Amino acid sequence: MTQDELKQAVGQAALKYITPGSIVGVGTGSTVNHFITALGSMKDDIEAAVSSSEASTARLRELGIPVLDLNDVDELDVYVDGADEINEQMEMIKGGGAALTREKIVAAVAKRFICIVDESKLVPVLGKFPLPVEVIPMARNYVARELAKLGGRPIWRGGVVTDNGNHILDVHDLSIEQAKQLETQINGIVGVVTVGLFAHRGANVALIGTAKGVETRE
Ligand code: 5RP
Repeated sequence: MTQDELKQAVGQAALKYITPGSIVGVGTGSTVNHFITALGSMKDDIEAAVSSSEASTARLRELGIPVLDLNDVDELDVYVDGADEINEQMEMIKGGGAALTREKIVAAVAKRFICIVDESKLVPVLGKFPLPVEVIPMARNYVARELAKLGGRPIWRGGVVTDNGNHILDVHDLSIEQAKQLETQINGIVGVVTVGLFAHRGANVALIGTAKGVETRE
């Protein structure tokens, strides 16, 4: 199976976590795009979606799925999203698609985070994928210097402006053994909007696409 077929399989498998009549939290990325397509098949069975990006909102609306403002929603049963890396502790690196801030906000409201990934994303230690950090534009160089003090090599993702009007630094050369601690430390740097470490709020369920089928971890 190709990587895209594995992404399609987990996108489809996530449907079993959707409660009829519920409002669904929807992430961002190529794996989630498959989930959105699959969700289209049950659009009459759900109330609406809350989206983590302008890109996902456009896809949901194209399929006729209503998209609500998160401020009008008190709770979500599930949030379905991909990841750039996930470890055995269900901690993740996210933000390869620059949507990390809204992803973290929607995930915070959801009772369960369903992570959908192909097997290439499963790693023993987080950090081979450069860690995305969303920053206020005027703080970019200051934050970069602070991140370098933590042992990383931050690179500005030039040309990318997030849905919130901010910049992204991708931090290379990290080997993240204490993900919760690093998440707290980076969150504490003035000018950081969001770090793409999802450790304090990790995944509750991981659906991993493998050549043998979809593996479920809870
Ligand atoms: C976007 C994300 C995505 O979930 C992550 O980049 C994985 O994307 P893909 O499913 O395309 O591999 O965090 O900000």
